[in-house]
Amino acid sequence: MVGALEPAFAKHDLTLRVIDWEAPIEAFEGIDIVLLGTAWNYQDKESEFLAKLEALEARGTSVFNRPGLVRWNSTKTYLRDLEKAGARIIPTLWLDDVSRADLEDALQHFDCDKLVVKRQVGAGALGQELIAADDLPPEDWRFGHAAMVQPFLPAIAKEGELSFIFIDGMLSHTLRKSAASGEYRIQSMYGGTEEVYEPSASEIAQATAIVECLPISHPLYARIDMLRGSEDELLLMEAELIEPYLYPEQGPELGERLAIGVKTRLG
Ligand SMILES: Nc1ncnc2c1ncn2[C@@H]1O[C@H](COP(=O)(O)OP(=O)(O)O)[C@@H](O)[C@H]1O
Ligand SMILES: [Mg+2]
Repeated sequence: MVGALEPAFAKHDLTLRVIDWEAPIEAFEGIDIVLLGTAWNYQDKESEFLAKLEALEARGTSVFNRPGLVRWNSTKTYLRDLEKAGARIIPTLWLDDVSRADLEDALQHFDCDKLVVKRQVGAGALGQELIAADDLPPEDWRFGHAAMVQPFLPAIAKEGELSFIFIDGMLSHTLRKSAASGEYRIQSMYGGTEEVYEPSASEIAQATAIVECLPISHPLYARIDMLRGSEDELLLMEAELIEPYLYPEQGPELGERLAIGVKTRLG
């Protein structure tokens, strides 16, 4: 993503340098602002990653998004907080682990015939399971992780997932992510693709309503991933505030907007 941001940052006299988050803290000497990049390996070393961000702030280096917000966003229980704050999320049961009996209860509870079971800490659909009512796992099956159980929403295969990219609280661009045929995960590693999407005023309002539920008013960047429910409403799947890939290909103004956001924060 750095290459896509560089020209706009240069125009604002900002120089971007890539530093591995695992480098010794001295490597960040003289840096005014740390912008989180796509640190894809952070899930495996989450506590070290969060500790590093906090250590940087303790040394007086600003980190964006702020470490406190990143910590909050690193466990999917943040979705429960957002729901309490008024966000419409995909209906979810929160369980410490999942048994076959829990799956049967969930199928009844949601009155659906397919479930998605995901980890409360996870990304990239890792360890996620799609379970059909007529193909339940054996009696002694356990998911083995603190879990979220959701009804499978068929919109994923038809319309796909909508991602709204907000910079400093303003909508920058929107894209639609579609799964490959026969697949329900939209991630590129499963053959998913992205295209520019022109949201309606109502869709923009629904995504903006999510941003307004966040615990801080204007994070530098936020990616709001939504999936359509059975009544045409958009439901929150994820609010990604850590190291979101912000899809510069679909948002030619992204670099300019982020550069202005950084400039403002530099004061
Ligand atoms: N309730 C659901 N109904 C249909 N598809 C889902 C549902 N939940 C997740 N998915 C699919 O699985 C993918 C990964 O789930 P997500 O909650 O975004 O977790 P991750 O943090 O791994 O990206 C989504 O991008 C979507 O394609
Ligand atoms: Mg996702």
